[in-house]
Amino acid sequence: MHTITDKVSITSVLNPNMRMFDVVMCTEYGSSYNSYVVAGTDKTALIDANHATFASEWLEKVAEALDGRKPDYLVLNHTEPDHSGAVAACLKRYPEIVLVCSAAAAINIKEITNLSALEPQVVKDGDSLDLGELTLRFISAPFLHWPDTMFTWIPEQKLLFSCDFLGAHFCEPRLFDHRIVFARDYTTAFKEYYDAIMAPFGPWVAKGLDKLEALDPEVVAPSHGPILTKRGRLATGIEHYRAWSAPPAADAPRKISLFYCSAYGNTKKLAASIATGIRNALPDAQVCAHDLVDANVNCMGAELNSSDAFLLGSPTLNRDAVPPVWNLVAEIDAVNIAKRPVAFFGSYGWSGEALPALSERLATLKAAVYEPQFRVRFVPSEDDLVAAEEFGAGFARGLVAGAS
Ligand code: FEO
Repeated sequence: MHTITDKVSITSVLNPNMRMFDVVMCTEYGSSYNSYVVAGTDKTALIDANHATFASEWLEKVAEALDGRKPDYLVLNHTEPDHSGAVAACLKRYPEIVLVCSAAAAINIKEITNLSALEPQVVKDGDSLDLGELTLRFISAPFLHWPDTMFTWIPEQKLLFSCDFLGAHFCEPRLFDHRIVFARDYTTAFKEYYDAIMAPFGPWVAKGLDKLEALDPEVVAPSHGPILTKRGRLATGIEHYRAWSAPPAADAPRKISLFYCSAYGNTKKLAASIATGIRNALPDAQVCAHDLVDANVNCMGAELNSSDAFLLGSPTLNRDAVPPVWNLVAEIDAVNIAKRPVAFFGSYGWSGEALPALSERLATLKAAVYEPQFRVRFVPSEDDLVAAEEFGAGFARGLVAGAS
């Protein structure tokens, strides 16, 4: 049994083989579903549950950590099913356990367990539970990354359970930051996790960091990946979150990205000419064209979401845009995409439905859809490539006009 202190046991379940989280997030390094048992002199609390798939394994670990005690509380810092899927099994095993969670989580957990009569103990920011010589203090941390999220703090141990905040989809059996073997992989996983999970909520990340730093924790125990410690990587993790969540500098170059797929090289030629047109119109802009065919879709998603404006290029196959482009669209940060300028281009053979389909989807996401779309039938001629340059320049000029 792993422990953080003599009063806090680790009951995490490791999932080293997971290669996809939430259907869309690639997880090359697996993950862990972290949970903990906190034993006061009077009461015992479980911190977070587990994925439903691992309910039995988790409950075995919990029983071992409890060592004959009965758990009094199950604290739910967040109700996404990777942490709440095993709540129903826990309630079955320990019917008298009291669920403790935020008001938003209390609504969710009834639907997740299908137990409409469930009455969790709802806590708000600053509330606490006395376990006997140990206190659980609850800190509201909304949008890190769901509205229901909270942190749980043990002041006597200077230990913060931070939910997904400062987590990583990373799986090594030696659960602490100072014992990581593949440090470079962890750094990659930490950034990918931030990009996929926290990046849409930059201002909330900054508020979460303020709250965390005010506590000055010795240990931060997230719900995925290694536990962070003062002598390990905690300060670096905080520093990274500060930098990544900061708004771009006012004088930063405008970032304009093109993402495309090309079946026979025709859409690729258009991408190159459009990029040239943008560069000619906005020489100070950072313009980059990305071929999606062999690209990591999560990385491309991060590129798109950090762009000030972007363009999507697709040929038409089966009366639609091609799957890599749709996969990228699925990566779009729907929270922050509103009013972001986007344009569409592509080569087609018969009917060319790809661009209208993409345009309609981006309009639904409330992006600022640029018209007209730039379409060429089959192979672009020299005149078409000149027109593509002018299309790119027009899009770029529109950005300047829109900003003024
Ligand atoms: Fe790890 Fe948002 O759940």
